[in-house]
Amino acid sequence: MIIAVDGPAASGKGTLASGLGRHYGLPYLDTGLLYRAVGRAVEAYEASDDFEQRAIAAALTLDEADIEPEYLQSSKIGSLASKVAVIGAVRSALFDYQRDFATQEGGAVLDGRDIGTKIAPEADVKLFIQADSKSRMERRARQFEARGQAVDRYALYHQIEERDARDMLNPNGGFYKADDAHLLDTTLLDIEAALRAAIAIVDGTM
Ligand code: C5P
Repeated sequence: MIIAVDGPAASGKGTLASGLGRHYGLPYLDTGLLYRAVGRAVEAYEASDDFEQRAIAAALTLDEADIEPEYLQSSKIGSLASKVAVIGAVRSALFDYQRDFATQEGGAVLDGRDIGTKIAPEADVKLFIQADSKSRMERRARQFEARGQAVDRYALYHQIEERDARDMLNPNGGFYKADDAHLLDTTLLDIEAALRAAIAIVDGTM
């Protein structure tokens, strides 16, 4: 069984997708980490003329050892990730790894932006997660605060809106709700309620 979970920044899709992985005993991949790892690799070259070429090279040589979640969670890396994610050759370089993960024997859960549209259009269940920008900002702010980081909510709100806009307008992105995706709005749901709702959708389609 392949479960595809797509949605905007800080929509709760990662928590939801990893919860589904545990519930159904399926391996889980956070595909945003791949783009974040590429973004981090070219962080020092953001303003240079060869940013694109360097990002492509980083994507082609990306190693599993580079995908260290603890170094990749900042807003700065999130924003860099969305900049490398508009480069078509970066997306193609990361395709096979995601595709192989999705199609492994026994199934998998993946979250990202284009899982249901491009990586695994044949997924058995597709969830498209939505939540209003203000509540997404607040969730992300609390995650940072829980790690002891100071948060400027105004700046964070704008970073999230800017990243969403770049992702939605990304001509190579595939970030839209697939026709056969189930829409799940988590604005008013806590983690447990959102997971119960997602499990109900998955169970209902099996
Ligand atoms: O999911 P996360 O917020 O960690 O993703 C970081 C960035 O990586 C996104 O804003 C998006 O630009 C890019 N991304 C993507 N396709 C995916 C996953 C992430 O373009 N499947």
